[in-house]
Amino acid sequence: MELYEAITARRSIHDFQPSIIAEEELKEIFQLASWAPNHRMKQPWMVKMFQQEGAIDFAEQVINSYKRSGFTEGYSKEKAFKMMEGIKNFLVEIPHHALIYMERDQDVHRYEEDFAAVCAYIQNVQLAAWGKGIGVLWTSSPYIHDETFMDSIGLDKKKHKIIGVLQMGYPSAIPRAKTRNPVPVEIQKDHFMKRS
Ligand SMILES: Cc1cc2nc3c(=O)[nH]c(=O)nc-3n(C[C@H](O)[C@H](O)[C@H](O)COP(=O)(O)O)c2cc1C
Repeated sequence: MELYEAITARRSIHDFQPSIIAEEELKEIFQLASWAPNHRMKQPWMVKMFQQEGAIDFAEQVINSYKRSGFTEGYSKEKAFKMMEGIKNFLVEIPHHALIYMERDQDVHRYEEDFAAVCAYIQNVQLAAWGKGIGVLWTSSPYIHDETFMDSIGLDKKKHKIIGVLQMGYPSAIPRAKTRNPVPVEIQKDHFMKRS
């Protein structure tokens, strides 16, 4: 696939076929993405993949986080239960949940560099997957900041930062592209500092 085509044709995918992606295929994608730029070659990206039975427990922990955050407050017990079951079933039907995280560098500048590098890594994952006919939705729901949620999946909020969760699978529908606005690139060709 041409580079330009991959960049423009890739779409965020919300509807997936139920089939599981072969492990080798997934590993190839997550390895290829590591060609992302990263300062000091820290390669800060780390991946936890939840699928099959693992996706059931993952969904359970997400639901628990929603409940703790007060998501169901104001609803009757029955309505709240239905809402949570609905979200859980929706999540369980997504074939793969790839949670992308990094270690928190205590130095703010390095932390930002690492965060930026992991974002570049994620876009590489999206493009590499797209090239194989695999769809991705980059999500950043509030549970990624929940200390108890992190603990439940073996992470420590003081040490780790979750950048996002990538829902992955073979697309069952590809949405239409959303148009992009013209980018205001300000090209400064003339001197702009006063000279005495
Ligand atoms: C940091 C980040 C977080 C996102 N979080 C969500 C999300 O939680 N839910 C969602 O539906 N899409 C999420 N998206 C995907 C955007 O909605 C999507 O990229 C945008 O609508 C443009 O669509 P396209 O990717 O198909 O071009 C996120 C994208 C980024 C970069």
